[in-house]
Amino acid sequence: MAKKEAVETSEAQIAVHWQEEDYFYPSKRFIAQANLTDESVYERFGLDNFPECYTEYADLLHWYKKWDTVLDTSDAPCWKWFVGGKINASYNCIDRHLEKNKNKTAIHFVPEPENERVQHITYQELYVRVNEVAALLRDFAGLKAGDTVTLHLPMTAELPITMLACARLGVIHSQVFGGFSGRACADRIVDSKSKVLITIDGYYRGGKLIDHKQNADIAVDLAKKDGQKVDKVLVWQRYPGKNSVPTPMIEGLDYFVNDLLKNYRGKKVDPVPMPAEAPLFLMYTSGTTGKPKGCQHSTGGYLAYVTGTSKYIQDIHPEDVYWCMADIGWITGHSYIVYGPLSLCASTVIYEGIPTYPDAGRAWRIAEELNVNIFHTAPTLIRALRKIDPDLPKKYNHHFKHMTTVGEPIEPAVWRWYHEVIGKNEAVIVDTWWQTETGGFLCSTVPAIKPMKPGSAGPGVPGVYPIIYDELGNEIKAGEGRAGNICIRNPWPGAFQTIWRDRDRYVSNYYERYCKDKNSKDWRDWPYLTGDAAMEAEDGYYRILGRIDDVINVSGHRLGTKEIESAALTVMEVAEAAVVPVSDEIKGVVPDLYISLKPGHEPTDELAMKISAKICETIGKIAKPRRVWLVSDMPKTRSGKIMRRVLGALSNKKDVGDVSTLANPEIVDEIRKVTS
Ligand code: PRX
Repeated sequence: MAKKEAVETSEAQIAVHWQEEDYFYPSKRFIAQANLTDESVYERFGLDNFPECYTEYADLLHWYKKWDTVLDTSDAPCWKWFVGGKINASYNCIDRHLEKNKNKTAIHFVPEPENERVQHITYQELYVRVNEVAALLRDFAGLKAGDTVTLHLPMTAELPITMLACARLGVIHSQVFGGFSGRACADRIVDSKSKVLITIDGYYRGGKLIDHKQNADIAVDLAKKDGQKVDKVLVWQRYPGKNSVPTPMIEGLDYFVNDLLKNYRGKKVDPVPMPAEAPLFLMYTSGTTGKPKGCQHSTGGYLAYVTGTSKYIQDIHPEDVYWCMADIGWITGHSYIVYGPLSLCASTVIYEGIPTYPDAGRAWRIAEELNVNIFHTAPTLIRALRKIDPDLPKKYNHHFKHMTTVGEPIEPAVWRWYHEVIGKNEAVIVDTWWQTETGGFLCSTVPAIKPMKPGSAGPGVPGVYPIIYDELGNEIKAGEGRAGNICIRNPWPGAFQTIWRDRDRYVSNYYERYCKDKNSKDWRDWPYLTGDAAMEAEDGYYRILGRIDDVINVSGHRLGTKEIESAALTVMEVAEAAVVPVSDEIKGVVPDLYISLKPGHEPTDELAMKISAKICETIGKIAKPRRVWLVSDMPKTRSGKIMRRVLGALSNKKDVGDVSTLANPEIVDEIRKVTS
């Protein structure tokens, strides 16, 4: 078994250990309409029926050719699902719905300015627009199956339209979160080797029309310096035909999509039948080292998994109006705003802006207007809304049958408020635990079958078998009251296939730790390491405590502490940088940054601000540290390693424990004075 250095401070260490909670039960009304009420699902998806059980999900899709092999393990641990099958994701999300539902709304696009009208895009209109964009990508941008393309788009309808146009051609899309900086976009262009960048001139956020085009200029410039030339930048316009932002177009490089589309009006592009295991998209996420990892997701297995879990865990019916408040730039948006709901022919809501803009009632006005009945968000927003005005949602007449919480652990008190006030005691709640890498849910209750327990994600979803190991690889059993490293015993179709062009990193990050035999082709020998700490209660419900590695989860957005530290180290005056997670009332966890300066530099507020600004510029505003502490030295071991554990304790106002073994124990009191 590979040894891994213990992380000195982690989210899991600062997690609160909550008490056991009472169950909440779904209403009869919910159960009567639910997609999945048959308890035998857990038998059907039992390990003795694995992997064949997952054909039940694949059968929800249209296949040009059925698979020959359900799960091919010959290249373990790179699992291949539905091998021999041919499929197209765009066809499954659009074309196959047209016969019965062409006039149904596929996407409700809600602009942030409240006086701008909501766009209701029918499946027919989506079909027309996706075909035209696919024709443009193929005939103007020269993209073909297997090519990669980087998208840096905000939450407008153009994002799913572009994704589905790529999918139609078998082009691998790599969407970079719209709030990320040009620098972060450049890194992802370089890693994915994209020759085309698709962006938008501007978008609304917090009442301002953001000049997003300037990020594209920075990204293209920096990518070129790092060896990746972008040939074409395709620029959507927030208002077609109008220049909304000051950043000019670059002759010979930038093209307005809306201009080009005139040449492709009414064009149809046959969906390309893709092998099931062809990559559908890349999604970059933070890892334990500075460099983001491109998680490569498949077409057939991924689509089957998100369709199945959208149907049974999200309980999406074609009649439902479903609103997931995540950003499509994260995996939640890919799986549970775009691919899952559209594959099931639901109406999915895309909201451009800040959930509390112009006030905390905005979400409920949108829900009322569109008659949203399934609602999906993260604890950060729930906490914020509860803090702003805990009674406000009661004034609105929205009604949800189902609500999701995702991305971070949710405190039981916040959960109960979500249930009582936002859900009006009517909605079921699923607390879905999963990751960018996993494509879809790992743990959650099946809402009509298992009761809810505040603060617990629930058992593994059908077909997913979690197991908790201690540091030595011994299994920690249900009800033992001990936390450990939660792993998944078996593969599932939504899992990423590899890290883009870095199989070794994929194997060592996720599969080496508890591998029983490195030469084995048997999936039983390859538990998947999630990187989270968890506890299993007696009833088999899992409570997730947070990350065990150098990753922190700010408002459900994953950031590598190393990424933030590397950005700080590019500031000339900085000698050393250390990031630690701090618990925060609203965001769950936020980064605190400790900095020691090179000799001859004075700690000033300006310098702290400069370092903070550098981090926003390099990664994006979401990585902004809560505080930048300029300290004269870091607490260090005798071998010179920074003791992040001690800094973490200081930031969280916790006991620092025994510091006598440090090389410089006196620094602890000095830092405590600075930080208190
Ligand atoms: O630590 C877990 C936390 O978010 C991490 C995955 O982040 P990301 O890849 O950005 O995907 C977010 C959307 C799924 C996990 O390793 N996490 C996610 N969901 C939960 C959670 N922690 C507790 N409860 C959850 N429901």
